[in-house]
Amino acid sequence: MSTAPTSTVDEVRKMYEDTADSYARMMDTEIGLPVYADVLGRLQDRIAHTPGAVVDTACGPGHMLFLYRERYDEKRPLLGVDLSPRMVAIAGEKLGSNARVFVGDMRELPSVKSGSSSAVLNFFALHHLDREGVNVALREWHRILAPGGQLVIATWEGSGVIDYGAASDIVALRYRSDELATWAREAGFSVTRCVVEPVEDFPMDAVYLEGCKAPA
Ligand SMILES: C[S@@+](CC[C@H](N)C(=O)[O-])C[C@H]1O[C@@H](n2cnc3c(N)ncnc32)[C@H](O)[C@@H]1O
Repeated sequence: MSTAPTSTVDEVRKMYEDTADSYARMMDTEIGLPVYADVLGRLQDRIAHTPGAVVDTACGPGHMLFLYRERYDEKRPLLGVDLSPRMVAIAGEKLGSNARVFVGDMRELPSVKSGSSSAVLNFFALHHLDREGVNVALREWHRILAPGGQLVIATWEGSGVIDYGAASDIVALRYRSDELATWAREAGFSVTRCVVEPVEDFPMDAVYLEGCKAPA
Protein backbone atom coordinates (compact mmCIF):
# COMPACT_ATOMS: atom_id res chain seq x y z
CA MET A 1 0.00 0.00 0.00
CA SER A 2 1.58 3.34 -1.02
CA THR A 3 1.67 5.67 1.92
CA ALA A 4 2.34 9.39 2.38
CA PRO A 5 4.55 10.16 5.38
CA THR A 6 3.31 11.74 8.59
CA SER A 7 5.38 13.26 11.40
CA THR A 8 7.08 10.72 13.65
CA VAL A 9 5.58 9.49 16.90
CA ASP A 10 8.19 11.52 18.82
CA GLU A 11 7.25 14.71 16.96
CA VAL A 12 3.53 14.14 17.50
CA ARG A 13 4.05 13.35 21.19
CA LYS A 14 6.07 16.53 21.66
CA MET A 15 3.35 18.66 20.06
CA TYR A 16 0.73 17.28 22.45
CA GLU A 17 3.02 17.44 25.48
CA ASP A 18 3.47 21.16 24.76
CA THR A 19 -0.23 21.84 24.19
CA ALA A 20 -2.00 19.35 26.49
CA ASP A 21 -3.12 21.89 29.11
CA SER A 22 -4.52 24.40 26.64
CA TYR A 23 -6.11 21.58 24.62
CA ALA A 24 -7.82 20.30 27.78
CA ARG A 25 -9.23 23.76 28.49
CA MET A 26 -10.57 23.96 24.94
CA MET A 27 -12.21 20.53 25.30
CA ASP A 28 -13.95 21.69 28.50
CA THR A 29 -16.12 23.77 26.13
CA GLU A 30 -16.06 21.64 22.96
CA ILE A 31 -17.39 18.55 24.72
CA GLY A 32 -20.68 20.41 25.11
CA LEU A 33 -21.24 20.36 21.33
CA PRO A 34 -24.22 18.15 20.46
CA VAL A 35 -22.16 15.83 18.25
CA TYR A 36 -20.44 14.24 21.27
CA ALA A 37 -23.66 13.43 23.10
CA ASP A 38 -25.24 12.19 19.84
CA VAL A 39 -22.38 9.80 19.13
CA LEU A 40 -22.20 8.50 22.70
CA GLY A 41 -25.98 8.20 23.01
CA ARG A 42 -26.14 6.00 19.89
CA LEU A 43 -23.19 4.02 21.17
CA GLN A 44 -24.84 3.39 24.51
CA ASP A 45 -27.97 2.02 22.82
CA ARG A 46 -25.87 -0.42 20.83
CA ILE A 47 -23.65 -1.70 23.64
CA ALA A 48 -26.36 -1.98 26.30
CA HIS A 49 -26.13 -5.81 26.17
CA THR A 50 -22.40 -6.11 25.40
CA PRO A 51 -20.11 -6.40 28.42
CA GLY A 52 -16.59 -4.99 28.41
CA ALA A 53 -14.73 -1.71 28.61
CA VAL A 54 -15.24 1.38 26.48
CA VAL A 55 -11.73 2.07 25.16
CA ASP A 56 -10.69 5.49 23.89
CA THR A 57 -7.56 4.77 21.86
CA ALA A 58 -6.40 8.41 21.69
CA CYS A 59 -8.16 9.74 24.75
CA GLY A 60 -6.33 13.07 25.06
CA PRO A 61 -7.46 14.73 28.32
CA GLY A 62 -10.28 12.20 28.75
CA HIS A 63 -13.38 14.24 27.96
CA MET A 64 -15.23 11.62 25.93
CA LEU A 65 -14.81 8.92 28.55
CA PHE A 66 -15.84 11.39 31.24
CA LEU A 67 -18.99 12.38 29.33
CA TYR A 68 -19.82 8.73 28.68
CA ARG A 69 -19.58 7.90 32.36
CA GLU A 70 -21.45 10.99 33.57
CA ARG A 71 -24.30 10.75 31.13
CA TYR A 72 -24.69 7.08 30.15
CA ASP A 73 -23.10 4.46 32.40
CA GLU A 74 -21.34 4.96 35.73
CA LYS A 75 -20.46 1.29 36.10
CA ARG A 76 -18.90 0.29 32.80
CA PRO A 77 -15.09 -0.08 32.89
CA LEU A 78 -13.28 2.69 31.01
CA LEU A 79 -9.87 2.52 29.38
CA GLY A 80 -7.98 5.47 27.95
CA VAL A 81 -4.78 5.31 25.91
CA ASP A 82 -2.74 8.22 24.59
CA LEU A 83 0.72 8.88 23.25
CA SER A 84 1.25 11.93 25.44
CA PRO A 85 2.08 11.40 29.14
CA ARG A 86 0.72 14.86 29.97
CA MET A 87 -2.60 14.07 28.27
CA VAL A 88 -2.72 10.79 30.19
CA ALA A 89 -2.02 12.60 33.48
CA ILE A 90 -4.87 15.07 32.85
CA ALA A 91 -7.23 12.25 31.84
CA GLY A 92 -6.24 10.29 34.95
CA GLU A 93 -7.06 13.25 37.21
CA LYS A 94 -10.35 13.83 35.43
CA LEU A 95 -11.50 10.22 35.45
CA GLY A 96 -10.19 9.15 38.86
CA SER A 97 -9.49 5.61 39.96
CA ASN A 98 -12.50 4.03 38.21
CA ALA A 99 -10.76 4.27 34.86
CA ARG A 100 -7.49 2.79 33.66
CA VAL A 101 -5.49 5.31 31.63
CA PHE A 102 -2.06 4.63 30.20
CA VAL A 103 0.54 5.91 27.76
CA GLY A 104 0.55 3.87 24.57
CA ASP A 105 0.22 3.80 20.81
CA MET A 106 -3.26 3.32 19.34
CA ARG A 107 -1.87 0.90 16.77
CA GLU A 108 -0.65 -1.62 19.32
CA LEU A 109 -2.48 -2.40 22.55
CA PRO A 110 -0.84 -5.58 23.84
CA SER A 111 -2.15 -5.15 27.40
CA VAL A 112 -5.76 -5.17 26.16
CA LYS A 113 -7.10 -8.71 25.82
CA SER A 114 -8.64 -9.89 22.55
CA GLY A 115 -12.44 -9.68 22.63
CA SER A 116 -12.48 -7.78 25.92
CA SER A 117 -13.99 -4.43 24.90
CA SER A 118 -17.51 -3.30 24.13
CA ALA A 119 -16.48 -0.18 22.21
CA VAL A 120 -13.50 1.57 20.66
CA LEU A 121 -13.55 5.36 20.30
CA ASN A 122 -11.02 7.33 18.29
CA PHE A 123 -11.65 11.04 17.85
CA PHE A 124 -9.42 13.37 15.83
CA ALA A 125 -6.20 11.36 16.04
CA LEU A 126 -6.10 9.17 12.89
CA HIS A 127 -4.67 12.11 10.93
CA HIS A 128 -1.37 11.44 12.71
CA LEU A 129 -1.09 7.99 11.11
CA ASP A 130 -0.13 7.15 7.55
CA ARG A 131 -2.40 4.82 5.55
CA GLU A 132 -0.60 1.72 6.69
CA GLY A 133 -0.86 2.91 10.31
CA VAL A 134 -4.60 3.49 9.98
CA ASN A 135 -5.04 -0.05 8.68
CA VAL A 136 -2.87 -1.52 11.44
CA ALA A 137 -4.92 0.40 14.04
CA LEU A 138 -8.27 -0.77 12.60
CA ARG A 139 -7.13 -4.41 12.78
CA GLU A 140 -5.92 -3.94 16.36
CA TRP A 141 -9.27 -2.37 17.40
CA HIS A 142 -11.13 -5.24 15.76
CA ARG A 143 -8.99 -7.66 17.81
CA ILE A 144 -9.80 -6.08 21.18
CA LEU A 145 -13.55 -5.78 20.54
CA ALA A 146 -16.00 -8.39 21.75
CA PRO A 147 -18.38 -9.90 19.19
CA GLY A 148 -20.97 -7.21 18.53
CA GLY A 149 -18.55 -4.54 19.84
CA GLN A 150 -18.80 -1.06 18.36
CA LEU A 151 -16.32 1.26 16.66
CA VAL A 152 -16.72 5.05 16.55
CA ILE A 153 -14.19 7.20 14.67
CA ALA A 154 -14.02 10.88 13.86
CA THR A 155 -11.27 12.34 11.73
CA TRP A 156 -10.60 15.11 9.23
CA GLU A 157 -12.18 14.36 5.88
CA GLY A 158 -10.58 14.90 2.50
CA SER A 159 -7.18 14.18 1.04
CA GLY A 160 -3.66 15.49 1.32
CA VAL A 161 -1.74 17.18 4.08
CA ILE A 162 -3.37 19.25 6.83
CA ASP A 163 -2.14 22.83 6.84
CA TYR A 164 -1.42 23.93 10.41
CA GLY A 165 -0.11 27.28 9.16
CA ALA A 166 2.45 28.95 11.39
CA ALA A 167 1.13 27.06 14.42
CA SER A 168 3.08 23.85 13.78
CA ASP A 169 5.25 22.06 11.24
CA ILE A 170 3.58 18.72 12.01
CA VAL A 171 2.66 16.70 8.91
CA ALA A 172 -0.76 15.08 9.26
CA LEU A 173 -3.17 13.67 6.69
CA ARG A 174 -6.85 13.86 5.81
CA TYR A 175 -8.69 10.75 4.71
CA ARG A 176 -11.77 10.43 2.50
CA SER A 177 -14.86 8.93 4.02
CA ASP A 178 -15.08 6.26 1.31
CA GLU A 179 -11.49 5.07 1.82
CA LEU A 180 -11.93 4.95 5.60
CA ALA A 181 -15.11 2.90 5.17
CA THR A 182 -13.31 0.51 2.81
CA TRP A 183 -10.44 0.03 5.26
CA ALA A 184 -12.83 -0.52 8.15
CA ARG A 185 -14.59 -3.25 6.14
CA GLU A 186 -11.24 -4.80 5.20
CA ALA A 187 -10.37 -4.93 8.91
CA GLY A 188 -13.54 -6.93 9.54
CA PHE A 189 -16.10 -4.27 10.54
CA SER A 190 -19.60 -3.74 9.20
CA VAL A 191 -19.92 0.00 8.63
CA THR A 192 -23.26 1.14 10.05
CA ARG A 193 -22.91 4.90 9.57
CA CYS A 194 -20.43 7.13 7.72
CA VAL A 195 -21.27 10.81 7.43
CA VAL A 196 -19.34 13.97 6.60
CA GLU A 197 -20.23 17.09 8.56
CA PRO A 198 -18.82 20.60 8.96
CA VAL A 199 -17.09 21.45 12.23
CA GLU A 200 -17.82 24.85 13.73
CA ASP A 201 -14.91 27.28 13.37
CA PHE A 202 -12.74 24.77 11.46
CA PRO A 203 -11.83 24.98 7.77
CA MET A 204 -12.16 21.18 7.32
CA ASP A 205 -15.12 18.81 7.46
CA ALA A 206 -15.07 15.77 9.72
CA VAL A 207 -16.01 12.21 8.89
CA TYR A 208 -17.86 10.27 11.57
CA LEU A 209 -17.71 6.53 11.02
CA GLU A 210 -19.51 3.93 13.10
CA GLY A 211 -19.10 0.20 12.69
CA CYS A 212 -19.44 -3.07 14.48
CA LYS A 213 -17.69 -6.38 14.81
CA ALA A 214 -19.91 -9.29 13.83
CA PRO A 215 -21.96 -10.69 16.75
CA ALA A 216 -21.04 -14.21 17.96
C1 LIG B 1 -6.50 16.26 18.66
S1 LIG B 1 -6.17 15.27 20.05
C2 LIG B 1 -7.74 14.45 20.32
C3 LIG B 1 -7.90 13.95 21.73
C4 LIG B 1 -9.27 13.36 22.04
N1 LIG B 1 -9.56 12.21 21.23
C5 LIG B 1 -10.33 14.42 21.86
O1 LIG B 1 -11.13 14.33 20.92
O2 LIG B 1 -10.35 15.34 22.67
C6 LIG B 1 -5.21 13.96 19.36
C7 LIG B 1 -4.68 13.01 20.40
O3 LIG B 1 -4.15 11.86 19.75
C8 LIG B 1 -3.01 11.45 20.46
N2 LIG B 1 -2.20 10.59 19.57
C9 LIG B 1 -1.57 10.94 18.43
N3 LIG B 1 -0.97 9.87 17.90
C10 LIG B 1 -1.23 8.82 18.71
C11 LIG B 1 -0.90 7.43 18.70
N4 LIG B 1 -0.13 6.90 17.73
N5 LIG B 1 -1.38 6.64 19.68
C12 LIG B 1 -2.14 7.16 20.69
N6 LIG B 1 -2.48 8.47 20.77
C13 LIG B 1 -2.04 9.28 19.78
C14 LIG B 1 -2.34 12.74 20.87
O4 LIG B 1 -1.41 12.56 21.90
C15 LIG B 1 -3.56 13.58 21.25
O5 LIG B 1 -3.87 13.46 22.61
